[in-house]
Amino acid sequence: MIRARDIVKEYIDGDGTRVRVLDGLSLDVASGDFVAVVGSSGSGKSTLLHLLGGLDVHYAGEVEVGGVKLRGLKDQALARFRNTHVGFVFQSFHLIPNLSAVENVLLPAHFGPVTAEARKRAEFLLDRVGLLAKKAREPVRLSGGERQRVAIARALFTGPKVLLCDEPTGNLDAATGEGVIQLFEELHREGLTVLAVTHEERMRSAARRVLRLKEGRLLEEPGAERPSVGGVP
Ligand SMILES: Nc1ncnc2c1ncn2[C@@H]1O[C@H](COP(=O)(O)OP(=O)(O)OP(=O)(O)O)[C@@H](O)[C@H]1O
Ligand SMILES: [Mg+2]
Repeated sequence: MIRARDIVKEYIDGDGTRVRVLDGLSLDVASGDFVAVVGSSGSGKSTLLHLLGGLDVHYAGEVEVGGVKLRGLKDQALARFRNTHVGFVFQSFHLIPNLSAVENVLLPAHFGPVTAEARKRAEFLLDRVGLLAKKAREPVRLSGGERQRVAIARALFTGPKVLLCDEPTGNLDAATGEGVIQLFEELHREGLTVLAVTHEERMRSAARRVLRLKEGRLLEEPGAERPSVGGVP
């Protein structure tokens, strides 16, 4: 589902020096996988998500998501890719404050006509994340966990192939975060591909694979729940 090869990403610092954040990084994520990406602050996790999601095109190397090669796509094609292939979930939710829960979920539909069918889908997704009863509330009248559920429903609206999440439980207390992690587990079981940057231990153990971003590359971390190989003579 995701294939990245030889990714090199540099930023130009304030004083003009080049800072290499991703240095020959490669990544393969199978369809339906649930992958956690960990790494220290500043290691390049958000940078990686942005280029996998087509939000940043200034890098060397190849990215392919859901069969679409991102290199060389024109603005319109890239916008279409973002709309059809990826859903983003952020630490700080990024909901529109003066829109109700259901209007926030409907937001992606506003690029075209908002049909009765679109409204039905938004309500279906709110129901899916357990919030249909609160569909008329604005974000300020929702808890943090509820806001993140609305943001997840919105990310799912266009039927993406991959959910890209940047510390989705970072602003939530442990109990609330747990509910959101369970939602990711359910979506994963339903076949969605999930790639989540996280500092959360619980999220790491929920994921099927854990990758550590270090010195510009990804290393596979042995999973705690994975059966150990060998050991018995
Ligand atoms: N627009 C930019 N210009 C220059 N440097 C940048 C820019 N964006 C990020 N960086 C630098 O690139 C590095 C990686 O940033 P990134 O945001 O990807 O880290 P991160 O792993 O997501 O960190 P955190 O866990 O704190 O969110 C950092 O050293 C950061 O300072
Ligand atoms: Mg980050």
